[in-house]
Amino acid sequence: MSTAAIRDNYSRVATTYDGKWADVLAVHARAVADRLSLGEARRVAEVGCGPGRLLSHLAELAPQAEVIGADLTEAMLRQAPAQFARVVADAQALPFRAGVLDAVVMPFVLFHVPDLPAALAEVRRTLVAGGSFAAVTWSGHDPHPAYDVWVRVINDFRAPPDPSPQMPSNDTTSDPVELRIALQDAGFVSVEITVERFHHQPTAAEFLAHSQVIGAMARRIDLLPADRRAECLVAAERELSGLAPEAFVESGTVLYSTAVAS
Ligand SMILES: C[S@@+](CC[C@H](N)C(=O)[O-])C[C@H]1O[C@@H](n2cnc3c(N)ncnc32)[C@H](O)[C@@H]1O
Repeated sequence: MSTAAIRDNYSRVATTYDGKWADVLAVHARAVADRLSLGEARRVAEVGCGPGRLLSHLAELAPQAEVIGADLTEAMLRQAPAQFARVVADAQALPFRAGVLDAVVMPFVLFHVPDLPAALAEVRRTLVAGGSFAAVTWSGHDPHPAYDVWVRVINDFRAPPDPSPQMPSNDTTSDPVELRIALQDAGFVSVEITVERFHHQPTAAEFLAHSQVIGAMARRIDLLPADRRAECLVAAERELSGLAPEAFVESGTVLYSTAVAS
């Protein structure tokens, strides 16, 4: 899995991401940022800021700080509020000098990074000693009947496998024990990881609209010929229309991590 494939994917889905996931994830991004003491911070970066929903909240938490949004994908970054400094940057090779940041926040990013130890070492390098780190990562997923139907229909139409899975570090970042070790190995101390609930209930129409654009199944149906893709969507819509509203609930657990640079 290459970083370029992650960038290509987010370049394609930037607008839909902003419409679907940004608001849903922002709740958790704000909650983990609230765990940091940023009152005295002078420079705070969100690495993997996407459309930048968290940046104004970071500015409220850190009123004396320059708040910087950094992201691998220019199309995502372009949607972030222009009053903040924005920089195209790969977490695995950050364009910041050593020890210049008082805090780095990374909600819903670490699982995407192919070389997780390199990214965490980079974040540690750019933080001042005693600087703060916070992240949110996916952990467990509850049963999701609508998604199961969606996958079954796509399998029935023999869509090829996902050409570019997007979560190369998920095995580590979804496991509190492994994630703690990775943070400690990168030079972080006072690592705190809590398991929190995630809950999102789209309507059937929202589920179908977003699932055609974002995610592994969207990448799979895009590989079908146009007529087969259209038939697949009609079949999916028909089957999904028979489900109860609860079948569309996406829920599970996320990990909130905070740590201090040694
Ligand atoms: C799921 S979105 C999260 C965006 C934002 N943090 C939020 O909570 O809404 C993941 C973001 O991480 C970015 N990203 C993925 N790999 C990255 C990397 N190696 N360095 C920097 N950003 C990366 C993507 O471009 C995308 O904008």
